[in-house]
Amino acid sequence: MLDYVTDKVQDEARQGEAFAPYASDPNEYKKRFYIESYGCQMNFADSEVVAAILNKEGFGATRNVEEADLIFINTCSIREKAEQTVRKRLTEFRKLKERKRGMLVGVLGCMAERLKSQFLEEEKLVDIVVGPDAYRTLPALVGEAEGGQKAVNVLLSREETYADISPVRLDSNGVSAFVSIMRGCNNMCSFCVVPFTRGRERSRDAASILIECRDLFEKGYREVTLLGQNVDSYYFVDETKDETVTFAKLLEKTALISPLLRVRFSTSHPKDITDDVLYTMAKYENICKYIHLPVQSGSTRVLQLMNRTYTREWYMAKVDRIREIMPECGISSDIIAGFCTEEEEDHRATLDIMKYSRYDFSYMFFYSERPGTLAQRRYKDDIPEDVKKRRLQEIVEVQNRLSLESNQKDVGKIFKVLIEGDSKKNEKEWKGRNTQNKVIVFPKENPELKKGDYVNVKVTDCTQATLLGEIV
Ligand code: SAH
Ligand code: SF4
Ligand code: F3S
Repeated sequence: MLDYVTDKVQDEARQGEAFAPYASDPNEYKKRFYIESYGCQMNFADSEVVAAILNKEGFGATRNVEEADLIFINTCSIREKAEQTVRKRLTEFRKLKERKRGMLVGVLGCMAERLKSQFLEEEKLVDIVVGPDAYRTLPALVGEAEGGQKAVNVLLSREETYADISPVRLDSNGVSAFVSIMRGCNNMCSFCVVPFTRGRERSRDAASILIECRDLFEKGYREVTLLGQNVDSYYFVDETKDETVTFAKLLEKTALISPLLRVRFSTSHPKDITDDVLYTMAKYENICKYIHLPVQSGSTRVLQLMNRTYTREWYMAKVDRIREIMPECGISSDIIAGFCTEEEEDHRATLDIMKYSRYDFSYMFFYSERPGTLAQRRYKDDIPEDVKKRRLQEIVEVQNRLSLESNQKDVGKIFKVLIEGDSKKNEKEWKGRNTQNKVIVFPKENPELKKGDYVNVKVTDCTQATLLGEIV
């Protein structure tokens, strides 16, 4: 149950809800596709690349799964529960397919990559299986499937970054957008399936990233989040200009597009975030003062088994360094409870490092063994489920307290807030974020304000999840 609760929080907070994209004008298109995404922001960004590829071939997006000729589900393998969610959704698609002849179902993303053609045997209704590096071949695969063959392409690439494809923004608020700057991961954290589903790390051409960000700004967007599994290892050599672009450099170049464009990024591996990045963040007001710095565990012994390559002390020193350079910086984390061999003492070290780091929020999970990972091959998944859940519950409780304390400290402060749209509960209120990535809800008052505007808001009250305020 607990994993469900935290997964749901994760879905809503960072990973967005499963969504259906809008159709521009359905009649313009020869076929209509429906796409639903699960997992991390990178999957959501990929779905926008897929939409662009399909658009070009004359397929239009629809929000309504009932009227789709093609259904795509962009999948995640990070935890077993993520895969179960996809399987359940596929059963629902099966019913639809029984009613509607000729409809095709395609599985995209990490689960497609992990299971490959095995998927076709396990899930009879699936017609197309495409891994994260093979989306350019999607139109051809659709053609094959229409001809009655099962179509699979799960080849991983060392080069593919979809740099030249301008994503079709799906279900966007028109204010903030995600921009993929690299793909894959070379880190091999022992619990993690991503290096297997996404392949080797590669950085996208810096010029194409900047063009995309500039274009977004010109279309009215006011916030870009640069995405990668490990953004701090971004590295691109621009041979035409004889220039090497590090992540710090890329951040700076993006920040210089306009002071009105906020720049965020996700995710940082603690081992790779440099002073250079921290100083660049401090230098530009529009680079948001917020770092997602997943710790995973507070125990050096467990961190070693996880292959995270830093120690508890090293991580704590990194937190100190961030606070030294940017005292106001928000910090959040990912935490895994009950990794192989974890003792109560290790668990207490995790609770302790959370308090030390004073996370504004965290995404919390219990360990889920993934086939093929280093941990699955080397270590026994030996912590009983009830112990994992109890530890996770304790972690959640500590985080709830830290989040509330962090928000309470903000009461009375004034923040510059980017308006993202109506608050979910009340259309007479706006919802926006401050630089630390905290959500602030406040009454609209001034009728001239619109989403995408910046406004100063004084915090008057808070809950554990949200700041409440008024315009000053
Ligand atoms: N690249 C990011 C993480 C991507 S996965 C990073 O290195 O920080 C997001 C989070 O899912 C991870 O940080 C981790 O906390 C969690 N996670 C990954 N594999 C997991 C597993 N097998 N069981 C439970 N949680 C896992
Ligand atoms: Fe997975 Fe580690 Fe890579 Fe993150 S850095 S995607 S946790 S292997
Ligand atoms: Fe999931 Fe793949 Fe992202 S496994 S978390 S969708 S990289």
